Amino acid sequence: MDDPAASAPELARTLAEIEGLNRTLNGYRPTLDGVFSLLPPGATRLSVLDVGVGGGDMARQLVEHGAARGVEVHVLGIDLAESTVAYAEGRTAGYPTITHRHQDLFALPAEPAFDVVHAAQVLHHFPDDAIVPALTRMAEVARVGVVVNDLHRHPVAWAGIRAITAVLSRNPMIRYDAPLSVRRGFVAEELLGWARAVPGVEATLTWRLPFRWQLVLRRAAPPPGHAQGA
Ligand SMILES: C[S@@+](CC[C@H](N)C(=O)[O-])C[C@H]1O[C@@H](n2cnc3c(N)ncnc32)[C@H](O)[C@@H]1O
Repeated sequence: MDDPAASAPELARTLAEIEGLNRTLNGYRPTLDGVFSLLPPGATRLSVLDVGVGGGDMARQLVEHGAARGVEVHVLGIDLAESTVAYAEGRTAGYPTITHRHQDLFALPAEPAFDVVHAAQVLHHFPDDAIVPALTRMAEVARVGVVVNDLHRHPVAWAGIRAITAVLSRNPMIRYDAPLSVRRGFVAEELLGWARAVPGVEATLTWRLPFRWQLVLRRAAPPPGHAQGA
């Protein structure tokens, strides 16, 4: 997944399989519940920055879930990998409120430009000492709050994903990366410790079946000039 030498067809196959795993393993629920828990009361429009957009399926889910409850969701998906951005653009072509940019999270200007900043399965790609800076930058860019959806490092989760991918996938990238991602996942104390080091937010951590964390960082007060529900 992090291999810059992966060919476009290999990457497309891998992103399609990640989407399959998200769908099968309840991967959208922490994102959807978390993002919509930050919807300001009465708002009918929500802007979301999706960090590490992958195949664009999280963005599509957000737009569809919003539409079902009368909320127009606008998503900017960013990703460090240009080829991933190109793939996500293709997979969201029928969604006019989803746009993409080739962009590093850490190079974003530290200005609150989105209602909610979301990152699913991105944090575990970072070394430990980059996690507080990553969460801090996400909080700086958010007007209302941040939602992180990531993996629980647990032996049962590791054995489970290893067995599932061994049976369901012939893709060596998925069979190798999926258990590795769980090993790079988090336990509650780590996530809470890092979240508490982020200035100006209130953190809530929830465990979601099976073996996912939903971390919500709510900004203590919206920055001046933020029109609720705008
Ligand atoms: C495992 S994929 C997650 C895809 C999708 N969010 C999901 O949950 O299915 C992680 C993505 O994060 C991207 N990424 C890693 N570091 C990043 C950074 N600093 N800024 C933006 N994207 C980054 C990677 O290129 C990769 O596409």
